[in-house]
Amino acid sequence: MAQDDLFKKLIAHAKEYGYIFQSSEIYDGLSAVYDYGQYGVELKNNIKKYWWDAMVKMNENIVGIDTAIFMHPEIWNASGHTSAFNDPLIDNKDSKKRYRADDLIEEHIRKYQNKIDKDVAKGHKKFGDSFDEKQFLETNPNVLRNQAKIDEIQGRLVKALEADDLNEIKQIIIDCEIADPVSGSKNWTDVRQFNLMFETQLGSTADGASKIYLRPETAQGIFVNYLNVQKTGRMKLPFGIAQIGKAFRNEIVARQFIFRMREFEQMEMQFFVKPGTEMEWFEYWKEMRIKWHKAMGIPEEKYRFHKHDKLAHYANAAYDIEFEFPFGFKELEGIHSRTDFDLKQHQEFSGKKLQYFDPESGESFVPYVVETSIGLDRTFLSILSACLKEEEVKKENGESDTRVILQIPPALAPIKLAVLPLVKKDGLPEKAREIIDELKFDFICQYDEKDSIGRRYRRQDAIGTPYCITIDHQTLEDNTVTIRNRDTMEQERVQISELAKIVDDKVSMKKLLKKIF
Ligand code: GAP
Repeated sequence: MAQDDLFKKLIAHAKEYGYIFQSSEIYDGLSAVYDYGQYGVELKNNIKKYWWDAMVKMNENIVGIDTAIFMHPEIWNASGHTSAFNDPLIDNKDSKKRYRADDLIEEHIRKYQNKIDKDVAKGHKKFGDSFDEKQFLETNPNVLRNQAKIDEIQGRLVKALEADDLNEIKQIIIDCEIADPVSGSKNWTDVRQFNLMFETQLGSTADGASKIYLRPETAQGIFVNYLNVQKTGRMKLPFGIAQIGKAFRNEIVARQFIFRMREFEQMEMQFFVKPGTEMEWFEYWKEMRIKWHKAMGIPEEKYRFHKHDKLAHYANAAYDIEFEFPFGFKELEGIHSRTDFDLKQHQEFSGKKLQYFDPESGESFVPYVVETSIGLDRTFLSILSACLKEEEVKKENGESDTRVILQIPPALAPIKLAVLPLVKKDGLPEKAREIIDELKFDFICQYDEKDSIGRRYRRQDAIGTPYCITIDHQTLEDNTVTIRNRDTMEQERVQISELAKIVDDKVSMKKLLKKIF
């Protein structure tokens, strides 16, 4: 499927099959806010469990917490969010469209990179195994010219962002002759900074309401509870605190479905370490996180690391794990070495000591932090986009047909098995219910008796159900059923008593975790 088509189909499929709905749809929707439907919420819960277990269950030295969305406003002064959590925005005067200025420039840089990738692909095609990609990249004049352009623009952008030089950002847009992707116009406003935090009021105006923020990341809830957890859990360095929760950002450009939302969920883990050991742990967590992604069985080439050229105000090293979404490689997760910035800031702003006493050395110090931060909704989108497929299949009468299938990793699939009586009579529905009543304690099951068996299989394929179990007249005689595998469409006759084990072998979360630990 072409990538553009895939994305459109994915959005339509997510709605048609109860995964994702536009928020407030009957009121024409709310931009960049989405609701999860009956299957979406199951997939989301399964992703959360996979992440939570990989952090909290599999590591003795990581514990979880759940902190409030509303926090003391001073926290956001300490963390730097009130002054620095900004995006540079620019408007096109003709189209009236608003963009992130840095995104426009990065998109322009990507065009040069695409040219290089195309030349490399041509070389592979022409020379096959004898093609020396490294030498080609180092010597080909076209590649060198394009690479020099990338380095020049990238260098200017990083410098401008670091210096908060909005005039220079606009100048790069002018010098690169970047046009509005919608209208083609180059009639731009100046670049302005835009703070991404949502504000609200705590208390009524009569009481003297105070301004507070909806948290833009869950991490600060962890930092301000660092000492509570360390003391009450008697935690020794190195140790981690994990949290899953909502975050809110008033994104300037909120397109691309659930990739960039104004209300979303993060799964973050702050790992507190001895100063001086942070780079070791940074490498460790890079490795562990990419393993977590790859264990799902999604093709490995869809993931890659991207090193940050411009570091956030709190970091001394940062990598993204990028995923190849239908609209290209984009950030899925961030792994940041945050130094002691946050704890020191909270120490200063709150006036409370946030130190660790090391019983071995007898010293007290502020720990360093390595953070892993992943968007739950983006993970959801990455799974859907890698798993939605169309396959040519042969019907029983020999005609060809297409089946739409969501090949979600079985451990994460919303419905684990569907139980389908072949006909709606002769005691088959009752037998099907009996089987569900036995299996429902372990798996989310679905009963379906409507339409032909073929159509019911197709419906379950589209939802992503790993197994369909069909009850027929033979079942009443010998307690056997057919079990159909979603991916291979193979059917096997098995004893009802074997079902729990067969399904569990395929769908257990343990299988995924065992690939990592
Ligand atoms: N505590 C660090 C932090 O928040 P971030 O890179 O701003 O770092 C972490 O965000 C992750 O949260 C991203 O990698 C992305 O997956 C997710 N995320 C960020 N903004 C988002 C948005 N507007 N919509 C959906 N997910 C988002």
